[in-house]
Amino acid sequence: MAKTRSIFLCNQCGAESSQYYGRCPQCQGWNTLVEQALPVREVAAGRATSQRRSPLGPAQPRLALTLKEIQDHPQTRLPSGYGELDRVLGGGIVPGSLVLLGGDPGIGKSTLLLQMANQLAQRQRVLYICAEESGQQVKLRWQRLTTEPGGAAADQGDLFLLPEIDLETILAELQSLRPTVAVIDSIQALYDARLTSAPGSVSQVRECTAALMQLAKRAHISLFIVGHVTKEGAIAGPKVLEHLVDTVLYFEGDRFASHRLLRSVKNRFGATHELGVFEMVNQGLAEVVNPSALFLGNRQEQVPGIATIVACEGTRPLVVELQSLVSPTSYSSPRRSTTGIEFNRLLQILAVLEKRIGVPLSKLDAYVAAAGGLMVAEPAADLGVAVAVVASFRDRLVDPELVLIGEVGLGGQVRPVSQLELRLKEAVKLGFKRAIVPKGQAIQIEGLDIVAVARLVDAIAQALAT
Ligand SMILES: Nc1ncnc2c1ncn2[C@@H]1O[C@H](COP(=O)(O)OP(=O)(O)OP(=O)(O)O)[C@@H](O)[C@H]1O
Ligand SMILES: [Mg+2]
Repeated sequence: MAKTRSIFLCNQCGAESSQYYGRCPQCQGWNTLVEQALPVREVAAGRATSQRRSPLGPAQPRLALTLKEIQDHPQTRLPSGYGELDRVLGGGIVPGSLVLLGGDPGIGKSTLLLQMANQLAQRQRVLYICAEESGQQVKLRWQRLTTEPGGAAADQGDLFLLPEIDLETILAELQSLRPTVAVIDSIQALYDARLTSAPGSVSQVRECTAALMQLAKRAHISLFIVGHVTKEGAIAGPKVLEHLVDTVLYFEGDRFASHRLLRSVKNRFGATHELGVFEMVNQGLAEVVNPSALFLGNRQEQVPGIATIVACEGTRPLVVELQSLVSPTSYSSPRRSTTGIEFNRLLQILAVLEKRIGVPLSKLDAYVAAAGGLMVAEPAADLGVAVAVVASFRDRLVDPELVLIGEVGLGGQVRPVSQLELRLKEAVKLGFKRAIVPKGQAIQIEGLDIVAVARLVDAIAQALAT
């Protein structure tokens, strides 16, 4: 008789079952049973559940260590060959770490990791597991990346390729080849034969990641795993996947623009919300060293309703142009629309402008967009949004050499923001001459005329004075 290789566990009450039920026989919850692979030794023993040692048995030798007893392993980070990627990883690749890279279809995940693998392979042994594409397909991409003029170095060094989806074969290969870095493209294509569910299902994705993680930690292999995203933009599979890994990166960008943003949303070895900027060109992904230029629109042409802010993504300041258009509505309730800033944040700012400043916006449509397709989610952009809207309403130009930084409170006050000095230094670097900042955060920066304001009404008066 075939031995049981998997069991079903209830997410809600923890009940075990050897077969799948739509409804848990114990807690009666619907769709709560999830398949789970049994460890190989338990399969061999033919047991469906693990047997635990009784806590009341004879005393065992101590297993826990004090911090002093734990050996130091000086961690030298490995440069990936791309400064932008290193920045997002917190300063390079940590040996034995697990990095999950998510992103929309076709955004360039495979391209990024193949370029990184190619660079690393000049100095290290690297294994690229292409579970979604054939070896020929990957080689074709590699040839395009390396043989186009201006592409990466063509010598593939020690870059090994393995077109495989079976987890057991992959684990065995990792163990025998012992690469320093391995790329798995993608986790949704891997298949653990101990489970009956199809590749990409919750249980397959979870089991495969857990097995890979165990091996990576034991053998000190740094793993980069590609994860597909759902329609809502989260990494497909259980949320627990993001808890398992050390670092979660998202690769995002506008399909119609050539730049791509690499963002860290979780990092056990560095700051989160770090941002790396790339551009998709013929030779693959090129690093963008001065990204603010991307988000600054056309500075020659001056139009009413444009204001400039300095957003901060992790430790990276970005100067971004905000554009606003306010016009009489032809509907019973006015339209509000945003691109690149939070919709609810705009509604809040419009309400403050109407109530505290007396700008009658209830019969006007309002559109606000951030140039370059960047998503600015932080409150420090409020002041820029408010000034852009008022400038469009009054048909006035905002000084093109001015940046606005500040959060707007519901009472019409301008509130402090984080990392002001960093933002102002970026503005000076890009040639801005004036800045309006929250009062109480006065900083002197050479070459910048800084105006500190406490209230939104003063900020608007200052910004539209010329
Ligand atoms: N010859 C080419 N010249 C320029 N850009 C190209 C060329 N071929 C492909 N690309 C770009 O590479 C992108 C595909 O990249 P890649 O296959 O790395 O994406 P992916 O995120 O891995 O996609 P998937 O989710 O399908 O695996 C395309 O969207 C395209 O913009
Ligand atoms: Mg791909």
